Formats: sequence, structure tokens, C-alpha cells
Amino acid sequence: MSKKFLKFPEGFLWGAATSAHQVEGGNNNDWTEWEKENADRLANEAKNKYQKWQQDKFSEMFKKENYISGKACDHYHRFKQDFDLAKFLNHNAHRFSIEWSRIEPVEGEFDEKEIEHYRQVIKALRERGIEPFVTLWHYTHPRWFTNRGGWLHPEAKETFLNFVKKIVSEFKNEVNFWIVFNEPETVARHGYIQAIRIPQERSILKALKVLRIFVETYRDAFDLIHSIDEKAKVGFAESLVDFESYNKWPHNLLVKKLLEWYRNKQFVPKVADKMDFLGLNYYFHSRIRFNPFKSWKWFQFNENKMGVSDMGWEIYPKGIYRILKKVSCYNKPIYITELGIADRKDKKREKFIKDHLFWIHKAIKEGVDVRGYFYWSLLDNFEWSDGFWPRFGLIEVDYKTLERKIHPSAYEYAKICKNNKLDL
Ligand code: BGC
Repeated sequence: MSKKFLKFPEGFLWGAATSAHQVEGGNNNDWTEWEKENADRLANEAKNKYQKWQQDKFSEMFKKENYISGKACDHYHRFKQDFDLAKFLNHNAHRFSIEWSRIEPVEGEFDEKEIEHYRQVIKALRERGIEPFVTLWHYTHPRWFTNRGGWLHPEAKETFLNFVKKIVSEFKNEVNFWIVFNEPETVARHGYIQAIRIPQERSILKALKVLRIFVETYRDAFDLIHSIDEKAKVGFAESLVDFESYNKWPHNLLVKKLLEWYRNKQFVPKVADKMDFLGLNYYFHSRIRFNPFKSWKWFQFNENKMGVSDMGWEIYPKGIYRILKKVSCYNKPIYITELGIADRKDKKREKFIKDHLFWIHKAIKEGVDVRGYFYWSLLDNFEWSDGFWPRFGLIEVDYKTLERKIHPSAYEYAKICKNNKLDL
């Protein structure tokens, strides 16, 4: 008889993730500043940036307000209700980030009220039986940090470690899992190669330098956190891409190798000896087909066989399996710290989650030590330079009334969380 369900390991963690700037509202950091300066431009550029079907479906992308995070989901004030929903949906873990600019609005001065706020956030999770995974840096910085040169400032590392020390000392009894950085490689690439986010420069050398600083900072943060709490579980979340060559032609294989080296190898292998777990974000599969005659379109990202999300990103569930098999070489527990889809109508989300879980389960069955899954995201939220129009949430947010509405797919995911198994 064929199996009717796939059981996940005992104690598997099930939940969703958010980040402070994307959901809290009312922030005052380097991104807030950048949004103000760039909202008009982003609204104007939408007609060149997005495909026709996206422009027709999501016309908010042409409005300036789309690009201003503003009050976002007002999660800062509504976290208890939001965690009630997470609990109702049977989540037993939740990933969120602490906003550095709230904690240290002026260099060296910590705001005790804001520390208390996050104490309440952690307490609210614990009271609902939800294990907090706390991210210490999810893309945003206090303005003073960015204005004096960001990560390229000679004291960047020490400054960040000072913040880490404060937070971990405060919450060491309440938090077991620390995610020091979210996607350092993405930040270096967007900021210094693609020039689409802060500080919008184009310098591969600077990108590599910033990456080196991220590696050094993370390594020191790992030791620092353990010196404060030896039982702490310390890691990071990095987004890895499933690269594939379109055929066996040597130039495609070479480009694949190069991209893999840049996207997947700049951080993880350099910190692998200092991680208690590996946090994996998965969004992209990339099929390389190099064509030197087609100007910048020299590699093909996907063939859309399995459809795309509202972002136009290919849906490719098998990719998570291939990445998991690769990173199992580090012999560390793995948490999938982000994996989700922008799907406003909630037509594809249920299948998306189930198909990915199928492949995650296959990796587990073959011996990969995956211990948890965080859907991205609990709520619709502010998708950085794309603004509010892409909707990743299990829970829909009406940005006018701030009302929350649970999507049908969230109920399906809730059954999986409750039973710790995926019905086939
Ligand atoms: C980031 C999130 C973002 C998501 C979807 C991840 O790389 O960590 O902040 O919302 O991708 O783009």
C-alpha cells in the first residue's frame, strides 16, 4: 500500500517569519529615509521594471505611497493579536527581527523602553507556546550608522557587536535561537553591485569588502553570544540559489560555476565552523543559458514550467531539495528560515507550500537534518524596494483598515503544523 502521508520528525518547528521594518510600522531608520528619497522614482520606473500582466494586476505599483513603509501592518502595536492568529494556526515557532534603530537611536545610547517592548514581544510568544527565533539584523540600520559610512566604516563591526552584546545580555534567559544576520550576500549585492538598494553604488570590490566584514562580524558575534550564554544556538539566515546549467556546453557550466561561487559561497563556507544551525532562505532556481550576443540578457533565469509568483519568480519546489542535499555537508541542523510566495489571490500558496514540503521531507528521509520551517511571511508586508503590492502573507492585511484576514492556504498549513505531517 502506498503511503498516504509524510510524517515530519518529532519536535519539528512550524511557523512563519517577519522582519521589523516590513511589518512594525513607525520606524525611523536608513530605509525610512531612502523610501522618502526614492518613492517617486520607483513609482515612475514601475512601467519598465515589471511585466505587463503585473502592471495590469497590481496598479498600486504606480503610486508613490506604495513605496513608503509608513505604518506598515502596525504590528508594533498589534503583535499580541498577530501572535494569537499564529497560535490559532498551530504555529509553534516564530521568526522576527529586533529593530536596531529603535534600540540604539543615538550611538551608544540604548532606549530601555524599546528593549522592554521586545521583552513583551518575546513574552507574548512564549505565553502562546511559540518558540522565538530572533534576528538581530534584517537589512535596516540606525541612520547614524549609515550616514557615517555603513559597513565600510572602520568601527562598523565593533558598533554592531555592541548592540548584539546589549540585546543578548538582556534576553539570554528568554531566547534560545539567535539569527545574527539575514542574507548578508543579498545586501552586499543589492547595495554595491546591482545598486538597487542602499547605498546604491556599483563596485564589486566594495561588495566583496562588505562581505568580508560581514564574515568577520558574524564570526565575532558567534563567539560573543556564546560568551554571554553558552547554551545559545547561534546562526544566520542566508538565501541560496539552486543553479542549473541549461545543457553541458562548457560556457554554461562555467557561468553556472561563477554565479554559484558568488551567490552561494561568499558567506556560508566561511562561517561554517561557527554555526550552531544553518538558516536557509529559498526563493530562486536559476537555469543558466549563456548568450554573449544578447547584451545583458545573457542568462536565462527560468522557463516558467511550473508557473510564477506575482513577483514573476519561478516556482521550483525541487530546488529546495537540491540545496538541502548540498548544505548537508556542513553536518549542522538546518532551519528553513524563509520560503514563501507572493500570491495575492491565494490561488497558488497551498500547493506551493505542500510541494516544497514534499521535497523538504524527501531530504529529511535521506538523512538531512532539517528541524523547522518558517513560511515567509505571517502577514502581508512591505517588500522593500517593491513596496506593498507583493503579498506574501498567510494572513492578508488591509492596509487602510489594518484588518487581518486569514487565507484558506493558512488553514491548510495549520493542519500540517498541527499533525506534523503532510497528507499526500
Ligand atoms: C528577505 C525578506 C523578503 C523576502 C521576499 C528575503 O530575501 O529576507 O525580507 O521579504 O526575501 O523577497
